[in-house]
Amino acid sequence: MLDRSRFREVMASFPSGVVVLTAFGEDGRPRGLTVSAFCAVSLDPPLALVCIDKTSNTLPAVQHTGGFTANILAAGREQLARRMATKLSAKFDGLEWRRPESKAGGPILDGDAAAYAVCALRDTIEAGDHWVLIGLVMEGDQREGIAPMVFTRRVYR
Ligand SMILES: Cc1cc2nc3c(=O)[nH]c(=O)nc-3n(C[C@H](O)[C@H](O)[C@H](O)COP(=O)(O)O)c2cc1C
Repeated sequence: MLDRSRFREVMASFPSGVVVLTAFGEDGRPRGLTVSAFCAVSLDPPLALVCIDKTSNTLPAVQHTGGFTANILAAGREQLARRMATKLSAKFDGLEWRRPESKAGGPILDGDAAAYAVCALRDTIEAGDHWVLIGLVMEGDQREGIAPMVFTRRVYR
């Protein structure tokens, strides 16, 4: 079995976008984390998945909301990506966001995202130390002319 650090090096060579996954906590406040493990699963119906570490503090908010919003970050939002990758409770202080139309979604970060997908939680699959969350995409859009961020080998491009 490949060791942990080599596995990370190999996987980091696969370029990805950077998503800020959001949901609402029981207290109604926004929660979220930075995620690179996000991809499309099915076209009909429209399904997407994210892989979330079992230790994530955002998981209870996803359960409570019954879904999540995948905010696909625009290029140049490294600071936000780093902030959302911390365990700080005040991650959303000073951030602008709006509620999706669907109840089963988290805050939409219009000003920081190149695109977003609001997902209602369909399946939760246990996989090693992560949960694979599969969502039915209820609403979404992309901003013409706004380039998405690309992350590869631990560098934001
Ligand atoms: C570029 C980048 C990509 C990441 N991708 C993931 C991911 O796909 N899944 C995951 O669970 N954590 C990922 N993380 C780590 C989480 O963002 C980090 O553990 C975060 O502190 C979790 O916050 P929470 O406990 O408040 O949910 C990533 C971090 C960075 C910087």
